[in-house]
Amino acid sequence: MSEEKNLNKILWQDFKALSLTEKGSYFQGSPAHTLIAQQFSREQLEELCALATKIRRIAKRREGGNFLRTLLSDKRAMLYFAQPSSRTYLSHNAACQILGLVTLDVRDSKTSSEVKGETPEDTIRTFSSYVDMIIMRHPVGGFCERVAWMLSNTNRPIPVLNAGSGADQHPTQALLDIYTLARSFEDLGGIDGKSVAFVGDLLRGRTVRSLAWLLSLYTDVKVYFVAPKQLQIGEDVLELLDAVGMDYEATQDFTSVMPKADALYMTRIQDEWDADGESATIDTAAFSINKEHLDILKETAVIMHPLPRRKEISTDIDNDSRAMYWRQMRNGMWARAALILTTFGRQDEVNEYYADNKPEA
Ligand code: NCD
Repeated sequence: MSEEKNLNKILWQDFKALSLTEKGSYFQGSPAHTLIAQQFSREQLEELCALATKIRRIAKRREGGNFLRTLLSDKRAMLYFAQPSSRTYLSHNAACQILGLVTLDVRDSKTSSEVKGETPEDTIRTFSSYVDMIIMRHPVGGFCERVAWMLSNTNRPIPVLNAGSGADQHPTQALLDIYTLARSFEDLGGIDGKSVAFVGDLLRGRTVRSLAWLLSLYTDVKVYFVAPKQLQIGEDVLELLDAVGMDYEATQDFTSVMPKADALYMTRIQDEWDADGESATIDTAAFSINKEHLDILKETAVIMHPLPRRKEISTDIDNDSRAMYWRQMRNGMWARAALILTTFGRQDEVNEYYADNKPEA
């Protein structure tokens, strides 16, 4: 058996210098942090998807809902969201409520003692005293890793769940995207062998960076990165994909990719990261989809978007059967409930309840 890797067994400088795939192996121990896409194995993703489905079905009935709310009724979580968020905040909050886990929140660090000169690490360590888990979104890439490392080296380590960090990672979004793809292709052989086109601002979209990696865990998936050249996917992501031999193509020609894709993953321009309004000078019109394109898409294709959207998906396709973005939102709540339950190691209680009660699909 390989030696257990834990954040309390490594210096921060040494940890920081590791590659993403090496870092991933440090988040399996206790507490089980969720920080980067590279920590997941395919087996874990499949277990989480199966658990999300069980929770979803159990929650349909009042007795089931009442049962689910007992699962984490002894736990509290802090939602620390130091960056604008409504859907991800609400989705995590709803996931906690499904499991009976009470939430506390800090949504604006200006209301905390950080304004009195306290370091963010001290602020979070203080808040962590009141809760059993921290779900956090932060503008600084890697900050939640720092927090996880810091808490793992205290006498009260608690799990940290990354709900979006900087422009680099968004592992829970990638998990719900995998759940959405798995559900969409359930009768079509699953995710293996499918083509996924990422479209839009791939340079600064953290959802794409995390999901592209998770897709590399499946067999024969082909990825198209479709973006204006200034916003094309980063070399660092491509290096990771090269290392595992993933089949991908980077292009600016969206029309040629449309008929080939089993899933279109649309994204908005992330101009909040602009230094000087440079996004406004990029012509992004060709990286959008509307009713006129529907005929050239595969009949079984799914159109996804992490939302919020701007003009990249015209509202006139919202009711097309291939528009999956609203279902994707709801999937997020179930996938996050599955992840949070697994973080506390209580998933077997759902598996047993499901086997005993067999709720309808
Ligand atoms: C995404 C994010 O915050 O990265 N939103 C989300 O979590 N659903 C995508 C975005 O903001 O464009």
